[in-house]
Amino acid sequence: MNEIILRAENVGKRFGGFTALSGIELEVRAGERLGLIGPNGSGKSTFTNCLAGAFTSHDGAFTFKGQPLAGLTSHQRARRGLARTFQLPRPFRGLTVIENIRVPLAYGGRQPATDDAAMACLEAVELAGKATRLPKELTQVELRRLELARATALQPALLIADEAMAGLSHTEVDQILALLFRLNASGTTVIMIEHVMRAVTEFSQRLAVLVAGRKVADGAPADVLAMPEVEEAYLGR
Ligand SMILES: Nc1ncnc2c1ncn2[C@@H]1O[C@H](COP(=O)(O)OP(=O)(O)O)[C@@H](O)[C@H]1O
Ligand SMILES: [Mg+2]
Repeated sequence: MNEIILRAENVGKRFGGFTALSGIELEVRAGERLGLIGPNGSGKSTFTNCLAGAFTSHDGAFTFKGQPLAGLTSHQRARRGLARTFQLPRPFRGLTVIENIRVPLAYGGRQPATDDAAMACLEAVELAGKATRLPKELTQVELRRLELARATALQPALLIADEAMAGLSHTEVDQILALLFRLNASGTTVIMIEHVMRAVTEFSQRLAVLVAGRKVADGAPADVLAMPEVEEAYLGR
């Protein structure tokens, strides 16, 4: 088995008096495809934000590639190989599509920020034809593909895709799914946060389930989905 690339220990996050995450323990192995699911408001994006450094967690610790992440900014975490996509795409609005890719290419420093390298990233998400457009000229699915291309331009060791498929058609979901499979095949560990169950079950080798800020299940997808408490919480039955 591969080494553990990410370890979360007792991670907790409060917003004022509200506990959004509590006692989260999670281990992810290098190369793994993990699905992170749970009802709306269960803490999935909060977990992502704590891991990526957008929020400071109140309790616990993250270890990434054997190093503690405490005290590192989100940019420093990105440079160490931790990339995430935002649930709502966040391109640089004033930059063209290709310029949006050159920024993380330059920042990640793993490959030269040339037009060729940027175009290769865009080709991987079928956006090469839109290279000189502005983000406002893109459709919703194109914006999501740009968001993924921006994350993958960092050549991350770990990518967390936060609801990259929300609101997309069947075909568009398949395109994003194929993209994430390709990325994983090239060595990137992927955590997929997703409500599109068809996609998450096809993709995930393992499922972890959050409910009201706690991890209630973690294991083989078939076993996890068969747990009555998961069915009840997740499907609202
Ligand atoms: N910045 C914030 N300030 C206050 N409450 C927040 C903030 N972000 C998330 N929350 C709350 O934390 C809970 C978990 O939210 P979130 O992590 O976005 O859930 P999920 O991604 O699983 O839908 C929700 O109740 C949400 O309202
Ligand atoms: Mg969310």
